[in-house]
Amino acid sequence: MTESITVTDNRTGESVEIPIMNGAVSSTAWAKLLPGIWFHDPAFMNTAECESSITYIDGDAGILRYRGYPIEELASKSTYLEVAYLLLYGELPTEAQFSQFKHEITHHTFIHENVRKRFLEGFHYDAHPMGMLVSAIAALSTFYPDAKDIFDEDRGHEQIIRLIAKVPTIAAAAHRFSVGMPFVYPDNDLSFPENFLSMMWKTAEPRFAANPKLARAIDVLFILHADHEQNCSTTTMRVIGSSHADPYVACAGAAAALYGPRHGGANEAVVRMLSSIGSMDNVPEFIRGVKAGNGRLQGFGHRVYKNYDPRAKIVRQIAYEVFEVTGKNPLLDIALKLEEVALSDEYFISRKLYPNVDFYSGLIYQAMGFPLTMFPVLFAIPRTSGWLAHWLEMLSMNTKIARPRQVYTGSPERSYLPIEQRKPE
Ligand code: ACO
Repeated sequence: MTESITVTDNRTGESVEIPIMNGAVSSTAWAKLLPGIWFHDPAFMNTAECESSITYIDGDAGILRYRGYPIEELASKSTYLEVAYLLLYGELPTEAQFSQFKHEITHHTFIHENVRKRFLEGFHYDAHPMGMLVSAIAALSTFYPDAKDIFDEDRGHEQIIRLIAKVPTIAAAAHRFSVGMPFVYPDNDLSFPENFLSMMWKTAEPRFAANPKLARAIDVLFILHADHEQNCSTTTMRVIGSSHADPYVACAGAAAALYGPRHGGANEAVVRMLSSIGSMDNVPEFIRGVKAGNGRLQGFGHRVYKNYDPRAKIVRQIAYEVFEVTGKNPLLDIALKLEEVALSDEYFISRKLYPNVDFYSGLIYQAMGFPLTMFPVLFAIPRTSGWLAHWLEMLSMNTKIARPRQVYTGSPERSYLPIEQRKPE
């Protein structure tokens, strides 16, 4: 028997039965019974905006899967580029498909000299790299006017390749500019993570040789951050994309959403919090303060996960591998103590607050030498493939333009008063 709900309009006594499909009820049947009565759902807390077959999350069980593959398996066996292909096209690539995809990405990593020389170098010397990234992604739209042809499959594919390939180049260029170092051109002989590390850190050596453990750590962090279904930035991508804007400006909008401290900035907040705690001895006092309402335990809690974030477990493991190379981040002991105290405290247990992906990722980035301002940029690089996968899916479903309703609470109709007749409030 199909599960369903029945909604009755008490004004008329009319009812409608709405089937529960895939854990959701369609708003179409509701609209037939109650035209002009909107769901008031700030922040989309109870709204499924779309159907999607890309990423599955079970927040209570702590499960995350891309296209059906558990995140743990992808993190241990795959690479970021393979995962990007999987997210975009729905299946893991064959050898021939993957070699073609890698070739295309590798040969689109260069950015137009004007993007770097005129655009990026035109920023103020202390410009935030995330602000530079957002603007430069939008600027790419003007270099590729054919990107407006969003329903041409080959052209669409070309823009996807360009975006995934060029975002790391822009990201590294923004960092080099902010520290006054010369731009490093992409190196086609390096893998995706090695090339990114080369563009970040190369100095006078003929070829930058990334430590393989660090390159793998970056690749796994990119896998973990590639997609997370309808989060704030992905929803932004879908909303902008629904107006049929080109993918560059849509990605720039998504990256702007990621710039916010509630989204891409939490790992930076974790590092600042750990630094301000200062030592393991201060942890109990800090936890007391959090419980008394003096701020939050950064890197804990999640809107969807009410269990250990599966990505956090993997990041915790990578942290140890990275610290073997870089030396231990001195903040790690404070983080471990905080986790231990919080996970055995009734306040956090009863609210189902567990470490999220950001709790340990900032420690890794810091140990690898990335400045705090690069943390959201490091998130945007892999999330580009997730944004584009959702953009492709949205276009393939021929969706309408996103246009929610509102509950108007303002003034009723009134007449315009000439300025000389207006009184101060
Ligand atoms: N520290 C202390 N208490 C917390 C925390 C925390 N980190 N997170 C939630 N709580 C408490 C709240 O005070 C609230 O308690 P109450 O019921 O007594 O009022 C209860 O837990 C529920 O919290 P909400 O704010 O309703 O949960 P919501 O789902 O809206 O928020 C969020 C999720 C924003 C992630 C929150 O847990 C938080 O602020 N965490 C810290 C910031 C952080 O780590 N963000 C990264 C998220 S992961 C990502 O974006 C990639």
